[in-house]
Amino acid sequence: MKKNKIKIIIVAAARPNFMKVAPLLKEIKKHKKIKPILVHTGQHYDYQMSGVFFKELGVPKPGYNLGVKAGLHGEQTGKTMIEFEKVCLKEKPDLVIVVGDVNATLACALVAAKLHIKVAHIEAGLRSRDMSMPEEINRILTDHISDYLFTTEDEANKNLLKEGINKKKIFFVGDIMVDSLRLAQKKIKKINILNKFGFKKKNYIFLTMHRPSNVDNKKILTSLLQTLNIISQKLPIIFPIHPRTKDRIKRFNLDNKLKNKNIILTSPLSYSETVYLLINARLIITDSGGIQQETTSLGVPCLTIRENTERPITITQGTNVLCGYNQNKIIKETNKILAGKQKKSKIPKYWDGHTAERIIKMLNNNLLSIK
Ligand code: UD1
Repeated sequence: MKKNKIKIIIVAAARPNFMKVAPLLKEIKKHKKIKPILVHTGQHYDYQMSGVFFKELGVPKPGYNLGVKAGLHGEQTGKTMIEFEKVCLKEKPDLVIVVGDVNATLACALVAAKLHIKVAHIEAGLRSRDMSMPEEINRILTDHISDYLFTTEDEANKNLLKEGINKKKIFFVGDIMVDSLRLAQKKIKKINILNKFGFKKKNYIFLTMHRPSNVDNKKILTSLLQTLNIISQKLPIIFPIHPRTKDRIKRFNLDNKLKNKNIILTSPLSYSETVYLLINARLIITDSGGIQQETTSLGVPCLTIRENTERPITITQGTNVLCGYNQNKIIKETNKILAGKQKKSKIPKYWDGHTAERIIKMLNNNLLSIK
């Protein structure tokens, strides 16, 4: 039987997606029978939030940019669906690959499923059990309309099985972000960013904070900024500030809480700058999902300022400690780490830099057999 080319659309939308699609696109290049089409939905559009990642990760220019920027959830999701449907109707792909849990992940999976195009979800099965998070809604719905569910940890496999998903659809392949991380670690030696901020290795805290649950609520944001001011008296904090957080600090008139020479604010950093600062930090404080995974992969202590995590393996096996918004808990855990009492950790199974290889091999075998 003659085997035709497999056409795969890969969707990227927001900052945490770019390091997940880069290894896939690299791996696909080795397979002559696969034709990839990259679609950027436009959810993140600034050079600092998008362009620089394409450049550093060697991601080719997208075949399509849907130009859907920020908006209310319904608006952003709906506009993405309208534009993505046009691309699917024109290109008639055999498969759409979506990654992570942003609004475009759900929007594009839904369009494909309704057009009877197969859907693969990378980073499937993660659950925070917190339905107030837009990402949790995106995760659950995307998983239930996907045909191939690629998971990062065993807990995710269990979640999917509990929700009644057929085990034949589930593939435990590890964490694709680690593929990009390991590549970056090899290349990164020459960066001069510590001098730029006047830091020494292991002598600063790296902070990221942008979750709506932390920054959209004035009381919680005020309390977190107060906590950070206290912590910064022990070790300086570098804080690359996300556009959402910057906007909320201004809107809530909280700029005065950041007038502290030990909290160094900067605009969003590039991927290699971020990885370098993660590797060399004494401690990371974050509410990001991706950074919980990256710190576990790097063996760097991480305090997560959230009430829950959809990535429990970073706690049971990794370096992560869940602190919620509780000032006492965050300070207590910071003190422990600064006193050298870091928890023991290990790198989870398949977080080895070869996840893209496993995914593409499986898809290649599976899709070629039905062509
Ligand atoms: C989105 C994702 C979140 C992810 C985060 C990473 C959803 C529901 N949320 O949240 O899961 O952790 O990205 O950054 O999909 N903005 C800019 N420049 C840009 C992009 C955004 O200024 O390049 C501004 C927007 O105008 C908006 C704000 O940042 O005011 C938030 O952007 P949005 O895409 O709505 O959500 P994020 O908070 O970034």
